[in-house]
Formats: sequence, C-alpha cells, structure tokens
Amino acid sequence: MTDTFLADIVAGLTRIPKTLPSMYFYNKAGSKLFQTIMQLPEYYLTKSEYEILDTQSAAIYDDFNPQNTFEIVEFGAGDGSKTKLLLQEFLKKTNDFVYSPIDISKSALKGLVKSYEEAIPTLNMNPINNDYFSALDSLRDNNTTKLVLFMGSNIGNFKDEGEVDFLKKMRANISEGDHALIGFDLKKDPQIIRDAYNDNSGVTREFNLNLLRRINEELGANFDISSFSHYPTYNPITGDATSYLISMKDQQVSIGDRVFEFKYAEPIFMEISKKYSEDNIAELAERTGFEIVNNYFDCKHYFVDSLWRAQ
Ligand code: AVJ
Repeated sequence: MTDTFLADIVAGLTRIPKTLPSMYFYNKAGSKLFQTIMQLPEYYLTKSEYEILDTQSAAIYDDFNPQNTFEIVEFGAGDGSKTKLLLQEFLKKTNDFVYSPIDISKSALKGLVKSYEEAIPTLNMNPINNDYFSALDSLRDNNTTKLVLFMGSNIGNFKDEGEVDFLKKMRANISEGDHALIGFDLKKDPQIIRDAYNDNSGVTREFNLNLLRRINEELGANFDISSFSHYPTYNPITGDATSYLISMKDQQVSIGDRVFEFKYAEPIFMEISKKYSEDNIAELAERTGFEIVNNYFDCKHYFVDSLWRAQ
C-alpha cells in the first residue's frame, strides 16, 4: 500500500498542473472528516439521497425485480449509513442475497460491518477493502444476478471522463439484465453547489488539507500545511465542482530524497465532484451499454438515484 501510495503521490506532484488523487483523502482522519461533512447543513447531497432511499427503496426493489438469488456489490460503500435503508427494505422481501461492500477506507468499512451486524443481523455480508478499479474484477467469474451500487455521487469523482471508462469496464464484467443503481448529483443553482463545497465551518478545507497531513505522516514529507490555501470552484457549464490547494509562497517540499518546487499561486488539483443534467445521465447510460429503467429523485430534485439495466 505505502509503495503505490508513494508512487501515486510522486507521479501526481510531477505532473503539470500538480495533482493529488482524491481517493487518498480517506485515511482514518479523512473518513471522519467526510462523516462530519455529511452532517453539514450545506452538504445537501447526503440529505437528498437519504430521502430518496427512505421513501423509494420499495419501488427500487420492485423495478429491480430479482427472480432468484442475487448479489449486491457496492463501490465506495463508506460507512453505509444510507445504503442501510435500501438493504432493510430489500430484506423485507427476501434475504436470498449477498451484500458485498467495497471501500478503500479500512476504517469506514470496519464501521459499516459493525453497524450492520447490529442493525441488520440477517444480512449476508462479504466486505472487500480495495479501490474501485482493483475491485472491478470481483464482479466477474460468477453468473449470479447482480445489482451494482454506486451511490453518493461517487461517480462524479473521475477526472477526464474516467467514469465512461469505469462504467464500460463495469458493464463488461456483468451480464445483460444485471442492474446498476447510480447516484448522481444534479446541476442546480450554482450557489447551492458552491456552498456545499465551501462550508462555513471550514471542514471541507480541512478535508483537503488532510491529504497533505497524511503525506507528511505516512511518507515522511514536510508540507507546511499553513502555506496552502483551499480554493473550491464550480463551473455551471461543465458541471465540474473542482477544488485546489494553492501554494501561498515560493516553497520546496521534500518527500524522502525527492524535492518538489512550488511557485507562489501554483495550484494543486485535488478533487472533482461532477454534476450532471438529466440529459448528461441519459447520454452516459447510452454510451456505456445501459438502459435507464427509472430515476428516483428527492423532492427538491437536487439528486437522483438512477436505476440502469445492462443491455
Ligand atoms: C464522497 C466523493 C461523493 O464529491 O461530494 C465532499 C466528497 N468532497 N466534500 C463529493 C467531498 C468535498 C464527496 N464524495
């Protein structure tokens, strides 16, 4: 793990513009910060998707309509606080399924397993601690009916249309008639989106800076955290909510015997959280080998869980 982590960080800081992969946000402290973000008044995404699953999980089950034993594979399950609502509803109909939550964060996954064992002890679980791409293979080599969950707007975190590639690979590893339930954050009043990624209490800022802290701790680097400033942006045309850390002075950072130069005002690209229109979603399904079965919205139409069927 440390080896790939180091290699990915070095590769990112060597690139122009400098980039750090947001999948590394989720160490123990980062997972905790994200849990705090989910409770922020500005971070509407969690509230919207919670409402969808709280009110429409039975409809999702009916539309999925499994005929025999099935498997639910969830990419980026996190602490599982929202998916629990869906699983509880499914368990009212049948417990003839296995739930395989995949997450890159060991601590989040541990928390999920513990809370599910208490709240829904009849659930069959098969937790997998891995990143998305490595976990794609776990979809293969059996022909059980599948429902792939990709919730919480995690689909928005791919750079350069990486979601197209990911969904195509996912499609190639499942069978015609299998389903995917994907959570998309919708384009909306840009101010609402800006506030969600620039909260008043500064937790999102800490969430970004935490990756520099993690690099210091785990790779022996010497980032001066106080000389980087959090800069979130939103582009209402592309739907990209993008965050940067800006170097506030000319400085050098070393990681082991490597030295990286930062100029005053130089950005590090940290994270993209892409927003979609309904047309963007339809086009994405079409391009990646799926047909939309149904869209489940929250009452404000901020968010949609979109049920797709592999074509
Ligand atoms: C967990 C990746 C969906 O992109 O909205 C929250 C992470 N970043 N605030 C998102 C995040 C800043 C979140 N995802």
